[in-house]
Amino acid sequence: MAKKLSVLVLVMVLVLSMFAGCAQEEATPEAAPEKTEEKVEEPAEVVEEAGTVGVLMPTKDLQRWNQDGANVKEQLEAKGYEVDLQYANNDVAIQVEQVENMITKGVDVLVVASIDSVALVGVLEEAKEEGIVIIAYDRLLMETEACDYYATFDNEMVGTIQGQYIVDSLGLADGAEGPFTMEVFAGSPDDNNAKFFNKGAIDVLTPYIESGVLVVKSGQGQTNDEWTSIGIQGWKSEGAQNRMDNLLTAFYADENIDVVLSPNDSLAQGITAALDSAGYGTEGKPFPVLTGQDCDINSVKNIIAGKQSMSIFKDTRTLADRVVTMVDQILAGEEVEVNNVYDNNVKEVPSFLCEPVFADIDNYEALLVDSGYYTADQLN
Ligand code: BGC
Repeated sequence: MAKKLSVLVLVMVLVLSMFAGCAQEEATPEAAPEKTEEKVEEPAEVVEEAGTVGVLMPTKDLQRWNQDGANVKEQLEAKGYEVDLQYANNDVAIQVEQVENMITKGVDVLVVASIDSVALVGVLEEAKEEGIVIIAYDRLLMETEACDYYATFDNEMVGTIQGQYIVDSLGLADGAEGPFTMEVFAGSPDDNNAKFFNKGAIDVLTPYIESGVLVVKSGQGQTNDEWTSIGIQGWKSEGAQNRMDNLLTAFYADENIDVVLSPNDSLAQGITAALDSAGYGTEGKPFPVLTGQDCDINSVKNIIAGKQSMSIFKDTRTLADRVVTMVDQILAGEEVEVNNVYDNNVKEVPSFLCEPVFADIDNYEALLVDSGYYTADQLN
């Protein structure tokens, strides 16, 4: 009996040590054997729980959307989600088709930076019926119940910072009387954000327009309710360049323009091209104070060259991070963290607003280069 037992014990020891050997072999070249179990289980767990996320971006034409798309994809994939990222070439019909494809694919969450704030209503409602959770990215989805959350930078604050930058650059709050000539540009009329950018800036500038310190010689776009009439369709640089050419010819043949309020960088670049052709950039004709948004590489180069004054910096890494948090919380069935609501004319959409800041010649290196957003080479 004792002999039988000791044989049995010997066999068990042998079998156990064989298993231990296998486990170690499989685990190599991974770390210590006791961590093997955790290491093997971890990926399996993530794959099982992670979902599929469709990400729709408007266009590759503008640098920012390329960065947005890449950051969102990279950060979601790092968490184990499957990501389908699509660009729509600023074509609404393509974006509608992309939503349809995402429904067929059965994504769990759809992240949408729309081209036209209302054009997706029908197809998004189909998505919602299929149980897909919809996050509006950067641009709010208007006129629909099918918008569950909204992640963006604070759009009105973007305009407020631009307006305040003009006030500070001209010393208006310190009593500078000018008068300073100014023209106002606005974004694409189909983009709900454009209204907020305009409102934020015009609210800051109105007292100076009313007192005559700032003079809009064309008379166009001086109040909040006029922005669509001067809006540049599709945020096109060429559209802004044409309008600026016309304004310079019609109103600034004998006088310099001192300020141009531009809501973003694609417009600012068109405006700069018009100013360049009109001979700005000399002592007698210095470039006006010119605002922008996105810190697009070409605009940062213009800031360095003294052709554009500032650009709002909306770190796409921050927004991507927020979206990943939202997706995590949605799919874990947790409460989604928000800090605001935006009214889309049908419902109050729970929203998370990130905080924008501005970059100019004094701080662009610290903000954009030292933070690793751009390399110094990219800005040469
Ligand atoms: C975005 C801006 C961008 C503009 C043009 C807006 O909706 O918020 O960052 O410059 O679209 O693409």
